[in-house]
Amino acid sequence: MTARRFGILISGRGSNLGAIVDAWRAGGIQAAPALVISNVPDAPGIEIARRADVPVQILDHRTAGGREPHDRRMAEALEASGVTLVCLAGYMRLLSPWFIRRFPGRVLNIHPSLLPAFPGLNAQRQALEHGVKISGCTVHVVDEGLDSGPIVLQAAVPVEEGDDEESLSARILEQEHRLYHEAIRLFCERRVVLDGRRAQIQ
Ligand code: GRF
Repeated sequence: MTARRFGILISGRGSNLGAIVDAWRAGGIQAAPALVISNVPDAPGIEIARRADVPVQILDHRTAGGREPHDRRMAEALEASGVTLVCLAGYMRLLSPWFIRRFPGRVLNIHPSLLPAFPGLNAQRQALEHGVKISGCTVHVVDEGLDSGPIVLQAAVPVEEGDDEESLSARILEQEHRLYHEAIRLFCERRVVLDGRRAQIQ
């Protein structure tokens, strides 16, 4: 399926959202961001979406009465906007199995480590504490596990002597901003083919 319209889910800062919207405005992605949903009412990313004239809905998960009811509400809004691809960009909640099955193989996430190393929260801190020499970021298809779905693209970022969480995160973030819209473009051009847990790029 060609994804002509995609949705973006956020919970916070929204810098990846901003980079994706900039790439779309520059003609780097044919498909359009049709809807941004924030589960956090005062997330800074909401303003980024508004300034870019991308429709935003605030759906506070605390008012939904559970994970799946919240996800059903999000799916309804996304589908009403014609969204066929869902991109998580700093969305800080696990999705329900119901939501994953509703958009099978069509939910992407970006994670600030070279998966499968350091899934979950504080990936950059985990990498520093482990003492790895190379970290980076991963765009992957979301499955029902934690940061465990098929890997679409990765970028490596060397860990430098003297790096702290802030400096490493900043260099990884630069790569995130480059990588995510590239993965969305490949997806929308139907060039990502899932074969078991391998995402083949054609
Ligand atoms: C990024 O580091 C991303 O990899 C992770 O959450 C952070 C979101 O940052 N999933 P932002 O909201 O896009 O600025």
